[in-house]
Amino acid sequence: MSSQILGILYLIASVTFIIGLKLMGNAKTARKGNLIAAAGMTAAIAGTLFLHEGSVSSVIYGLIFLAIAIGTIIGWITAKKVQMTKMPELVSMFNGMGGACAALISLIEFNHIIEHGSGATTAKGTLIAIIAGLVIGSVSFSGSIIAFLKLNGAMKKPIRLPSYNVVNTIVLLAVLSYAGYLVLTGGSLMLIYGLFASALFYGILFVIPIGGADMPVVISLLNSFTGLAAAFGGFLYHNKVMLTGGILVGSAGTLLTLIMCKAMNRPLSNVIFGAFGASGTAEETTSAKGTTKDCTVTDLAVLMNYSKKIVIVPGYGLAVAQAQHVIHELEMLLEERGVEVKYAIHPVAGRMPGHMNVLLAEANVDYGKLVEMDEINPEFDSTDVVLVVGANDVVNPAAQTNPSSPIYGMPILEVNRAKNIIVNKRSMNAGYAGIENDLFYDPKTSMFFGDAKKALTELVAEIKTL
Ligand code: TAP
Repeated sequence: MSSQILGILYLIASVTFIIGLKLMGNAKTARKGNLIAAAGMTAAIAGTLFLHEGSVSSVIYGLIFLAIAIGTIIGWITAKKVQMTKMPELVSMFNGMGGACAALISLIEFNHIIEHGSGATTAKGTLIAIIAGLVIGSVSFSGSIIAFLKLNGAMKKPIRLPSYNVVNTIVLLAVLSYAGYLVLTGGSLMLIYGLFASALFYGILFVIPIGGADMPVVISLLNSFTGLAAAFGGFLYHNKVMLTGGILVGSAGTLLTLIMCKAMNRPLSNVIFGAFGASGTAEETTSAKGTTKDCTVTDLAVLMNYSKKIVIVPGYGLAVAQAQHVIHELEMLLEERGVEVKYAIHPVAGRMPGHMNVLLAEANVDYGKLVEMDEINPEFDSTDVVLVVGANDVVNPAAQTNPSSPIYGMPILEVNRAKNIIVNKRSMNAGYAGIENDLFYDPKTSMFFGDAKKALTELVAEIKTL
């Protein structure tokens, strides 16, 4: 009876994961989706603990609850305290823990096999699930930890060993052959720990050459690895919820990786083999000529106050400056004065998928005012002022005009079609792609230098005086 109830609970949990994922596709419903999926996961964990077959000693129960309590407290506090700009870091750490779990499950199950017999007599399907979970989980764990260290600044520069692509490919093939040998022969405890160490080593080699700014794509890829490793755990235990959850994480991670690459117009191989941020990128593509023009806060306040239609383009700098609240204040102030205000959202603005949507939602910006790139581009011709705040690559015309540019072909917000372009940033420094931006030299562009929060606060104050 209890196993039937458990089966139904697992089915319900699997359905909540799918509903949760669906709701997470939209910023308005994302929170609800997250809660629904979390409720499903809680039900699956509770069901596993109390409705499983066989007896478990109270000591083991005590240890499990202690681990859940420690994990919940650490996870809760960290997630509550984390700043939005640090979210990719947190995700990489959580993902690494998922990979470590999958690898440890494999090690423990292999230990059980050795305790009760030998690997050679174990069903090949079981061995494949154990070894695949171990290799993929370990790569995901060590790779995610390196990604975490790169994102939090502890590992600043990509480490590129001589011929690193060749070395990495050889190490990968060696690890896969080693794993294949263990499946065929059944292996031993010593050999399985050797495989664990070599997969951890490969995870490090895989991520160290990749530039820090590419980490969101790498994390999403590693996320799909963790999902796959968890799915192998599901095979091993004949646990349907683990299998469904793993497959969903694996496919969602893969899709997200591909979406990010497509939006940047870069093949995944280009991200993995680290072309961006490599030395020489900036020089190769320097195409900007001419001089820039500055504008004062008074000029800008007058221009904006008497405009009919303004489009704000938020970018990574808005998140760095935490200027989302003041930009919302500016938008409301302008609307009170009869100006139509919209936000143009580029799919890879910022450093993580949906970064701008989440940031603006934090400041209670009406979601209806956020317009996707394909929809807003035709509107720029009828826009009086485009205010670019801390965005750079996503408005760089080189993506359309300079075939030698590393971002050539990336879809951009075509802000140069507007009547006036105002760019707020702190200096002439490049953005993520490390390249110059011709937009800043466009005769229609005026630079409004300064930290976004400070500059926009001054702008709001100035408009209020008009
Ligand atoms: P970026 O091109 O990175 O430019 C951000 C600009 O913000 C910088 O040029 C910087 O110039 C400025 N800035 C930094 N701090 C600021 C502050 N406090 N106040 C005002 N400005 C500030 O940003 P973007 O246009 O959003 O483009 C995103 C880039 O990240 C794209 O190349 C994209 O491919 C890449 N990427 C995105 C993702 C996702 S999923 N979103 C994932 C991986 C990579 P100053 O230093 O002069 O101020």
